[in-house]
Amino acid sequence: MSRLGILLSGRGSNFEAIADSIEAGRLDAEIAIVISNSPRAKGLERARQRGLRAVCIPSKAMEREAYDRLVVAELREAEVELVCLAGFMRLLSAYFVEEFPQRILNIHPSLLPSFPGLEAQAQALEHGTKYTGCTVHFVDERLDAGPILIQKAVPVLDSDNEESLAARILEQEHVAYTEAIRLVLSGAYRIDGRRVVRTR
Ligand code: GRF
Repeated sequence: MSRLGILLSGRGSNFEAIADSIEAGRLDAEIAIVISNSPRAKGLERARQRGLRAVCIPSKAMEREAYDRLVVAELREAEVELVCLAGFMRLLSAYFVEEFPQRILNIHPSLLPSFPGLEAQAQALEHGTKYTGCTVHFVDERLDAGPILIQKAVPVLDSDNEESLAARILEQEHVAYTEAIRLVLSGAYRIDGRRVVRTR
């Protein structure tokens, strides 16, 4: 069974959706470790409640690559094959990315390449787009930039505020992450330039 490593910084609802998918048999994988850079992350507590190995590696005042070396060492120790960033609020160093080639995923609450970075939902509202959504993509050293695996579109309603839009996107995030992990674990794709193309 494939061993997943989850990296998070906060609430952890995407992590929980992945854990729920595993429990429900929608995903043939196991969560080997959950790592947070913030001791206050709710996701850590929730991982422990589920009986999962949950580790805090504080990133405060640490240089990027030195920090990433600690994280990669934990992931190796836990024999992680696929790294899933789930609200992990840090850019990865080239070192980290090269340690797990095409084996790191991220989820972002917009239809990339629109609205990368922070507060993607507010960016969509401010821009006035009629649709936004979420994206699961492979991670490289750039922000929210690697080849796209799965996207889900979500309408922006006239009555939306940041909170209501974020909640509607989040529902789709929870579906999209499981689909993306399933696709990667199946191996049924190839990367053609920037395109992730299904092979069956
Ligand atoms: C999600 O909106 C995700 O797309 C973004 O950060 C948020 C994390 O939420 N990268 P949660 O911690 O998974 O609930």
